[in-house]
Amino acid sequence: MNVVFCSTIQIIAEPQNFTDLHCPHFFRFIETVSLHRQFFCVKKNCTFAKIEKKEVEKQKLYIETYGCQMNFADSEIVASILSGEYQMVTSEKEADLILVNTCSIRDNAEQRVFNRLNELLGLKKKKKHLLVGLIGCMAERLKDELLTKVKVDLVVGPDAYRSLPEMLKNKNILNINTLLSEIETYDDINPIRYDSNGISAFVSIMRGCNNFCSYCVVPYTRGRERSRKLSNIINEVQQLFEKGYKEVTLLGQNVNSYKSDDYNFSKLIGAVAQISPELRVRFATSHPKDLSEELLATMSQYTNICRSIHLPAQSGSSSVLDRMNRKYNRQWYLQRIDSIRKFMPDCAISTDIIAGFCDETEEEHQETLSLIQTVGFEYAFMFKYSMREGTAAHKKMKDDVPEEIKIRRLEEIIHLQQELSLQSNKRDVGKTFEVLVEGFSKRSNDFLFGRNSQNKVVIFPKGDSRKGEYVNVRITSCTAATLLGERV
Ligand code: 5AD
Ligand code: SF4
Repeated sequence: MNVVFCSTIQIIAEPQNFTDLHCPHFFRFIETVSLHRQFFCVKKNCTFAKIEKKEVEKQKLYIETYGCQMNFADSEIVASILSGEYQMVTSEKEADLILVNTCSIRDNAEQRVFNRLNELLGLKKKKKHLLVGLIGCMAERLKDELLTKVKVDLVVGPDAYRSLPEMLKNKNILNINTLLSEIETYDDINPIRYDSNGISAFVSIMRGCNNFCSYCVVPYTRGRERSRKLSNIINEVQQLFEKGYKEVTLLGQNVNSYKSDDYNFSKLIGAVAQISPELRVRFATSHPKDLSEELLATMSQYTNICRSIHLPAQSGSSSVLDRMNRKYNRQWYLQRIDSIRKFMPDCAISTDIIAGFCDETEEEHQETLSLIQTVGFEYAFMFKYSMREGTAAHKKMKDDVPEEIKIRRLEEIIHLQQELSLQSNKRDVGKTFEVLVEGFSKRSNDFLFGRNSQNKVVIFPKGDSRKGEYVNVRITSCTAATLLGERV
């Protein structure tokens, strides 16, 4: 049959029923907006034609993400915002557009991105139409410097992702948007979980930070605190559960500041936990000054709210905490730990520690070691202080702890924490935990790995268990990082 295409039209929304759509000659009001889908009239001379759908191949998007869990959640939002025009690919070599979602928290995080950008920009030599964009915190912090010095094609800050499709259409005019917003929460956007194990998902509940810890660049790169609506969060989690997800982590720079209508974080997490006892609920990150008794009481009421709290201490010295503008002291922090243990004796506690903050004396460092010892954290993220431009510490203090002393203090902290993690794991030998299976162990397909409620990684022989199942595992041995066990 000799088919003549009479015209090409594009429509805004997909019609309910394709056969109801007729040729554009009869329906001139149809608007031309969508880039990725076209409808052709296939009947010769176009009399009362049926319209057939043809998918035009989408462009290919590769996103590389650095930094915190919030950034990983944001990349899923970006994938969703661009899903009309782009499909995700897993290799930079296949891409027409590469976006690097970046972190500014420490200088070494930024240096790593600069090195990687050199490689990625190099791909443009072979593929002329390739675009490389930089998004996230470095975009916000460095702004047009990235266009002039690093020569990326696009710079978009964390609150401007909705402008990406328009910017990509008009890239010769618009290539930078770093406006921060007091309201943007991407509340209505359904993230595309392109790199998910299908079992656990991040759900962002609030953005930004109002705390202005003196060392931290986040309030400048991510702007003021704002929360999503409770109903949208619940809907998103409900949909995840219906798709087979078994664990959600509620995310925010400071989740305890969640506030929407009459709901605070305790009420929100209670509502999420009620979706199903089969769904595990985690959250990150809490600020010690805001960790309320109400939240601990709510957690203790629901067995599916995981027994794991990440509570960054940053330092064990009250004078350092004061210089850091953390708004609590050592005694307050230790009281919070007592409260957690009173409500949930089996709760794992992890933390963040910074070594070598401005003016830190040997005595103050010893107080940090003693806090770590006293609490006996299950796990810690430990960092060397890195001065960030624009922060209060940068304006008012001196980064005066010599590099070799910072390194030595950090090593002492890491050494102590490794010993404590090992002790904590040894105490678990002989106990039985419910483990949510996430996949095969890295070393062997005969073993599975998952996590217990305390967020510890557990490895055990596969048997007939599968990803997504809850399995009772008795711990038989351990390392500082992992528990090993057998099914019971
Ligand atoms: N230098 C070192 N570590 C930092 N963090 C935040 N800012 C800095 C900095 N300038 C650490 C804190 C925070 C974690 C996410 O990163 O410990 O809790
Ligand atoms: Fe940074 Fe402090 Fe806000 Fe955490 S609470 S993001 S450390 S300013």
